[in-house]
Amino acid sequence: MTRTQEGAPISTDSDAPVSQMLVHLRSAHLLRAAVTLDLADTLGEEPAAVAELAARTGTDPGVLSRLLAALASTGVFAVTSDGRYIHTPLSRTLCSTHPVGRMIAQDLKSDASWQAWSSLGAAARAGRSPFVLVHGTDFYSYVREHDPEQATAFHQAMSSATAEDNGGMVAALGLPATGVVVDVGGGRGGLLRDILLAAPALRGVLFDTEAVIADALPELVTGELATRCETVAGDALVSIPGEADLYVLRFILHNWDDESCVRILESCARAARPGSRVVVAEMLLEETGTPDPLTAMADMGMFVLFGSRERTEAEYARLFERAGLTYTGTTATKSLHLFEAVSR
Ligand SMILES: C[S@@+](CC[C@H](N)C(=O)[O-])C[C@H]1O[C@@H](n2cnc3c(N)ncnc32)[C@H](O)[C@@H]1O
Repeated sequence: MTRTQEGAPISTDSDAPVSQMLVHLRSAHLLRAAVTLDLADTLGEEPAAVAELAARTGTDPGVLSRLLAALASTGVFAVTSDGRYIHTPLSRTLCSTHPVGRMIAQDLKSDASWQAWSSLGAAARAGRSPFVLVHGTDFYSYVREHDPEQATAFHQAMSSATAEDNGGMVAALGLPATGVVVDVGGGRGGLLRDILLAAPALRGVLFDTEAVIADALPELVTGELATRCETVAGDALVSIPGEADLYVLRFILHNWDDESCVRILESCARAARPGSRVVVAEMLLEETGTPDPLTAMADMGMFVLFGSRERTEAEYARLFERAGLTYTGTTATKSLHLFEAVSR
């Protein structure tokens, strides 16, 4: 044990969790600063001195040098023996080109979502979504109305973050050889493109809000796939284009409270013909025990931004039943679960 000159202990093993907590807390602020200053993109592939990075980012060299040293202490950037900075695997995840990390960077950069996260305690007291509590409206409406640039960046980041799952999803979906698949809230259409590429006789409908449909992937709008694909703008809470053999909803229901989920599934049920399949792709929240950190953080993220949640298998089954669909079972992919129902 280390002691002061007077003999008082200054650090004990029991302090370790406190120190760890402090590092976690401050790290989030450091990461937000790194993202706000675009440090990861600015660094590039060549080692760079602090003065050079300060000039490129318009920052004070003295402050930047301390910020970089603190970031490097947590593995974000590393310093070379001659005092220049280089990337590490962690700092690369903050680059705008990183397929999944750019989603995290997007979240860190957004003042609106940062303010919502800061109100988690107040929201717990109020029993309401932090985002709604602070901004008076939900995340999608807010970015659409107040920050269209962020809305576009969000949907692009989402599309690139979920692209990694596309292969596993396409393999697990058990695609019909022919007929129609509707991707409900399909974003820019990355999953639908991969579905149509895997099933050459299948036709597809990409359904999302107007602004997102306007930014649909070019290959779905012109070219060979466009002959088999329709893009439709609308509101899934009101209606969904029919009649399809398969409706896919990936990362949709976790954005909504139970009542809205039932409305979305009812829209599917109304559009579908008897026997059509409805597949909901989401993370699985286990019934009991402590969730793994990724699922727990996703659940908190859903609450903070949307006032919604991740769900258990029984909860998805209940949503299907409430919407008049028959739940048929769950399949696990590498990173997601597919909860499936058929229309009656
Ligand atoms: C989390 S993203 C998932 C996107 C896509 N399914 C994927 O896996 O990459 C949710 C999507 O739902 C769309 N959305 C939000 N509200 C909607 C509504 N009322 N009707 C239809 N789509 C909506 C959003 O625009 C967004 O593209």
